[in-house]
Amino acid sequence: MLISGRGSNMAALIAAAKQPDYPAKIVLVISNKAGAPGLKIAEAEGIETAVIPHKGFVDRDSFDLAMTVKLERAQADIVCLAGFMRLLSATFCKQWEGRLINVHPALLPAFKGLDTHARALTTGVKIHGATVHFVVPEMDGGPIIAQAAVPVLDNDTEETLGHRVLVQEHRLYPIALSLVAAGAVTIENGRTHCGSIADAGAALVSPAPVEP
Ligand code: GAR
Repeated sequence: MLISGRGSNMAALIAAAKQPDYPAKIVLVISNKAGAPGLKIAEAEGIETAVIPHKGFVDRDSFDLAMTVKLERAQADIVCLAGFMRLLSATFCKQWEGRLINVHPALLPAFKGLDTHARALTTGVKIHGATVHFVVPEMDGGPIIAQAAVPVLDNDTEETLGHRVLVQEHRLYPIALSLVAAGAVTIENGRTHCGSIADAGAALVSPAPVEP
C-alpha cells in the first residue's frame, strides 16, 4: 500500500485482511512522507513499512522505480493507493497495470483531482460518493471497479460531507480489493466486469443508511 498521510483507508484494508477468508494479505506500506500518521498504525499492526521521500529523487521515474524495487522485494502482487498524493509515471502504471488501484473521494468521472467535497457543494450535486478504480497515467481516469453514493444534505459543510464519504470509502475499498485479489475483475474496453460476483458489485452501489 502507498500512503502519504492519515492512513484511515489503509487501516480499513488492514482490518479487512485480518478476516480469515479475505483473499489478500498486506505485506508492505510505503509512505512518501516521513512522519505520515498511517506509518505508526501499520507498524503497530506488525506490517513492514518504508519511507521513500519523493524529494530525494531527480525525477518521477526514478522515485517510482525505487518504489517498484521495494514492492517487488516484498513480493507484492497488487498495489493499493490509500491517500497517496503523488501522480505516478506512465512506466509505473504500465508495470502494475491491472494490479494498481486507488480510492478517490468522488463519483468519478465527476470531480477528478483535489478538493472534491468543496467542489461537490459548490456545484450543487445532490449525490456524491467514492470510487475505487484501476490507475492509469491519466489522473483519476482508469476503469471503475466499484462506487458508493451518499446524499448531499442542504446543511452540509465540506467536513460533514467528507466524513459521510469517508465512511463509505472504508466500506468500499476492502470489497473492491477483495474482488481484484480474488481475480474476479476483468477489464474490457475501459470497463470492468466482476463476473459471477456481479451481485456483490451491485450491492456496493446502494447507499448505506444515512446517519441522522
Ligand atoms: C481519502 O479520502 C482518499 O479518498 C483521498 O485522500 C484521503 C486519504 O485519507 N485520496 C485522494 O484524494 C486521492 N486523489 P486516508 O489517508 O485517511 O485514507
